[in-house]
Formats: sequence, structure tokens, C-alpha cells
Amino acid sequence: MKKLSVAFVCLGNICRSPLAEYLFKDMLKKQGIDTVHVESFGTSNENYGRGMHSSSKLALLNHGIIYLGGHRARGLQKEDYADFDYFLCMDSYNLSDAKRILGRSDKVHRLLDYSDFPRDVADPWYTGNFEKAYDDILEGCEHFMKKVVLR
Ligand code: 4NP
Repeated sequence: MKKLSVAFVCLGNICRSPLAEYLFKDMLKKQGIDTVHVESFGTSNENYGRGMHSSSKLALLNHGIIYLGGHRARGLQKEDYADFDYFLCMDSYNLSDAKRILGRSDKVHRLLDYSDFPRDVADPWYTGNFEKAYDDILEGCEHFMKKVVLR
């Protein structure tokens, strides 16, 4: 029985949120925690069915995280609200879009608002810098782990 369900949310569900999903799953596994369920979504359904961006996979691999495949992009829907305790959004646009889609705001947060320096995760779609996105996501996940999962 899972105690906590977490959904990472970005725009396309091909770059940032799947990177966050697999990074956080790896972090949970390394800490021996199997009570947290993790998925990811986009606020857009435009990339429906696509796999993770190759540069996100490479960023994971560069940090020793082996992604075995299986990710398929999909858009967040109102019905997803009931299935998760936390919707962790990559940036302010994702935050407002997720609140609009879900029709509620109480479970919806920006990932780096858990960090000491609240801000958006750097968007590699525009910067091309997947390492910066990885570092931002790692920082957010570490703080979320301490403040929510291990509290
Ligand atoms: P993601 O990146 O939201 O981190 O998956 C993007 C993916 C696709 C687009 C923008 C950002 N796009 O404009 O298609």
C-alpha cells in the first residue's frame, strides 16, 4: 500500500517532468523507500505517446541513473486530481495551468518552492542545458524528500 502519491508536471512531459520522475524514483530506491508512488504529466497533450527526450535520458545516465524505458508522454486531466497527494510543477506557467486543469489548487505546488531559493526549474527546451535542469530538479527533490517524505 502506497502512502504518498506524487506527480511531476511540466509542459510537454518529455524533458523536465520525466527527468524528475526517474530521478526521484532513483532517490527513493537508494533510500529504501517503497511507499511513494511517482508519475509525471504535461499540461499539454501535444506530445502524447512520445518517449523521454534523449538529452533527459543522457542527463540521468551522466548521474548514474539508468532509465530502462517505458515512459510515454501524456497530458494532465481533471480526473488525475484524486489519484495524487502532490502535483510538483516545474515552473510558474505549469503551476497555473495545472491548477486550471485540475480545477483545484490545494495539492499543486512549484517544485523549487520547497528549496531555499524558490524559482522555476531552468527549461532545457529553450536553454538546451539539460544539466542545469537536472541540478535544479535534484535540488527540489532533495528538499521535498526532507520536508515531506521523511518528515
Ligand atoms: P518539457 O519541455 O515541458 O520539459 O517536456 C518541452 C517539451 C515540448 C515543448 C516545450 C517544452 N514544446 O513546445 O513542444
